[in-house]
Amino acid sequence: MKLGKAISKFDQFLGKVFFRSMLPLSYNIINKRLNKKIKKNINSKSFIQFSKKGYFVINKNFSGIADDINEQISKEKITNKKINIKSLHYYSINTELKKIIKNFININLKEVISDLSSIYKMPIYIANVTLRKTNHFNSDEEKYNNYFHNDIYLGNHLKVFFNLHDMNIKNGPTVIIPSDETKKILNYKNRFKKRGFVVKNEQEKKFFTNNLKKGALIVCNTCECLHRASVPEKYETRDILTLTLIAYPTKNQNSKDIFNFEKEYEQEIWNGNSNLAKKLAKPGLSNLLHFYKTFN
Ligand SMILES: [Fe+2]
Repeated sequence: MKLGKAISKFDQFLGKVFFRSMLPLSYNIINKRLNKKIKKNINSKSFIQFSKKGYFVINKNFSGIADDINEQISKEKITNKKINIKSLHYYSINTELKKIIKNFININLKEVISDLSSIYKMPIYIANVTLRKTNHFNSDEEKYNNYFHNDIYLGNHLKVFFNLHDMNIKNGPTVIIPSDETKKILNYKNRFKKRGFVVKNEQEKKFFTNNLKKGALIVCNTCECLHRASVPEKYETRDILTLTLIAYPTKNQNSKDIFNFEKEYEQEIWNGNSNLAKKLAKPGLSNLLHFYKTFN
């Protein structure tokens, strides 16, 4: 094993020991500072919940926008017969869809993004947009993120889930374990398991399940909240728009354009590629110090 890999493994091990976390120790140290900063800037009820629980629901109805997106993806549903074969399908995002999604982010989500930016005291950028269809599959395997896991990024990485139709227990809603409960679940036995583990049904019922209506939005720090996409029942399916937001102080601090990175990283943002998210929120050993300083 190369030295770098060995150090990374040790870093992960120490994260479990000292922080009850699936994130490495170095990420936990950086996040601790970041969370302290966020707590200081919190000014509203939803952000108090965000700080305590790691997620919040936006109680606005954007079902009209979900309809506009659905109208576009319905074309692919007719022409592409393969979309039901695999357990996971990524709809292609054409120019019209890009326009709808960009308007949604720039206009409808402007307020929440600006509020997030003011608690992070950093601009917020779009790093990734995916339109995903999740199908039923008949197996206990971990095919996609159907086992509980944390996303391994720093706390400046956030996910926004936008329901394209009403969610219910049949179409495999996302389950989120609040960050404070996540710490309790990561007991001695659990935290040393490999990524992805199962929580008993009875216990899972106590956590947040996205059985919200079409047009609902959830903002989640998926690095601190264990979460999973449950499996749709037979003949059921789930369509969801997921946005990855990253708080990051760029050199041109004045740039309020949430699509600031689009020129340079168009492929990464629109094609389900996580390279931009990694660049802005997943440091390797060599740039840990840079990230530590960045968030101070
Ligand atoms: Fe995830």
